[in-house]
Amino acid sequence: MCGIIGITSLTDKNLAQITVSCLEKLEYRGYDSVGVASLQGSILEVRKAKGTVKEVVQKKNILSMRGNVFLGHTRWATHGPPSDYNAHPHTDCSNSIAVIHNGTLKNFKELKESLIALGHIFRSETDTEVIPHLIEEYRKKGFDTFTAFKKAVLDLEGSYAILAIVKGENRIYFAKKDNPLVIGMGEGTNFVASDIPAFLDYTKKVVIINDGELGYVTPTSIYIEDLRGNVIDVTKRIRIIDWDAQAASKEGYPHFMLKEIHESARAINDTINGLLSETELVEEITERLKGSDRIIVIAAGTSYHAGLYFTILLNRLGYTALPVIASEYYNINAKRGDSVIAISQSGETIDVLMGIRKMKEKGATIISITNVIDSAISRESDYKLYMRAGPEIGVAATKTFSSQLAVLLFLYAYLAKIDYKELLSAPEVIKNSISLGEGIAKKVGEELALQKSVYYLGRGLSLPLAMEGALKIKEIAYVHAEAYPAGESKHGPIALVEKGYPVVFINDGELTDLLENNLHEMKARGAKTYAISVNKRLGAETEILIKVDKDILSPFAISPIIQLIAYYASTAKSLDPDRPRNLAKTVTVE
Ligand code: AGP
Ligand code: GLU
Repeated sequence: MCGIIGITSLTDKNLAQITVSCLEKLEYRGYDSVGVASLQGSILEVRKAKGTVKEVVQKKNILSMRGNVFLGHTRWATHGPPSDYNAHPHTDCSNSIAVIHNGTLKNFKELKESLIALGHIFRSETDTEVIPHLIEEYRKKGFDTFTAFKKAVLDLEGSYAILAIVKGENRIYFAKKDNPLVIGMGEGTNFVASDIPAFLDYTKKVVIINDGELGYVTPTSIYIEDLRGNVIDVTKRIRIIDWDAQAASKEGYPHFMLKEIHESARAINDTINGLLSETELVEEITERLKGSDRIIVIAAGTSYHAGLYFTILLNRLGYTALPVIASEYYNINAKRGDSVIAISQSGETIDVLMGIRKMKEKGATIISITNVIDSAISRESDYKLYMRAGPEIGVAATKTFSSQLAVLLFLYAYLAKIDYKELLSAPEVIKNSISLGEGIAKKVGEELALQKSVYYLGRGLSLPLAMEGALKIKEIAYVHAEAYPAGESKHGPIALVEKGYPVVFINDGELTDLLENNLHEMKARGAKTYAISVNKRLGAETEILIKVDKDILSPFAISPIIQLIAYYASTAKSLDPDRPRNLAKTVTVE
């Protein structure tokens, strides 16, 4: 959801420029509007508008802003439509306090009503705007700013990462609950942001802020306490990040998405090497899984598809495995004896977080698989595994999907007593698949871009991959796509098929004979057929055939191709695949 950045420095040199560069990195989190506040002594200025970072920087001449303290915000609207006046930062009545926020406040209506009754004037429809007015109100009552800030935070119910600045103070106040916030420590300049890549060009020294903590940063110091007032020893929290800033840049590719698909081989190489360095942990986890009554796999979107793939394998091995769409977590009655596998690239998806909290309360053991180290989901888990895919900036999950499959198949290899070494050639499979299939994937993508609607069909382990293919083209190319179990398609969906209707078959080679029947049924109705096949040709009009020498490797042949088809469908329509409309990379609202 929203991206937030705060910078406080001993100098005002280039601070507007630095803020803009951080905002560009955060833009994947939301791009409904952009706003910046600058503060120099007692001069507080806010410039904001609907639009992208590039547009707003130009329109509002952001680079001419001066100050030692800056706040920057990119919004993904939850309360009030995208507009100039709903853009953050929001200020109090006297324009002395500026606030940016990521999250949603459940009790904002009551707070707003009571503040209006006290004479406060609101200028937006956002939930966020109550925060500067609350701080103002407590300051009016005579509290110093930090106490006023704390009191305001204690009044809030809901989720938040908040940054606030106040005229005359060279510091940034912050508070965090359920939304990410991390401090970057520079030389005479400190940063507070939604994620690490935002300031990675300037510092690799970070301090992760935990839920329920608040405090302030000055250019040279950091103060953190929890809501009970216990002071946190910051020195124990400092970590040095080993990603390089390049990993978060496009490196000559036209889009992050294309770069990240091409990086998948490297990413899963790192995933597998990471797992090889912690085989004891993997063994401990697999022992826990073996002794579990049920294995509940919870995730959202793409991560859910990776999870579904895994549950099919587990059920085939004789385990009782339940795939759970994270936002439907309340349907599951977890209990002691169950193990929960939570899969999340960002590690911040609130639906997953709420689900694991509930299941943990019931006594289940939580095992997380995340890409972002120390994310909320990993912190709340009993066992943590990491994807180590490196930062993923494109809103569509690509290389992290392959990494998730690599982690899950590694666990599966242990459970099924297959030699995990079979997985070592997975990066090679991805590379071959891209070099063989990218040309045809581009042609297929360009053809599908012209269509209104498309079916993705698969059977068995091909079904979650078909679901992922459909999600990808839907979210970045805005082509309506529906995934269906191929055999089930004749029970209704086939009614839509007429001459030229596109149907994409995902054929991992396991159930090709059965899929052939479905292909004929579709062809007989005039469908235009496509297939992404592993090892066995299906006979579609347009087909990409990739060979792998071990069954366990087949998803790695298919995943880059479904992603490339969606990518080229998106670019054929001149859309921006990195920033699909209405979406955000990290979904921290329920
Ligand atoms: C997929 O391309 C994404 N748009 C989305 O479905 C994503 O997979 C989902 O929001 C889950 O995110 P997570 O892995 O960070 O939890
Ligand atoms: N609720 C705030 C708004 O609508 C912040 C949204 C978010 O973090 O996604 O402006």
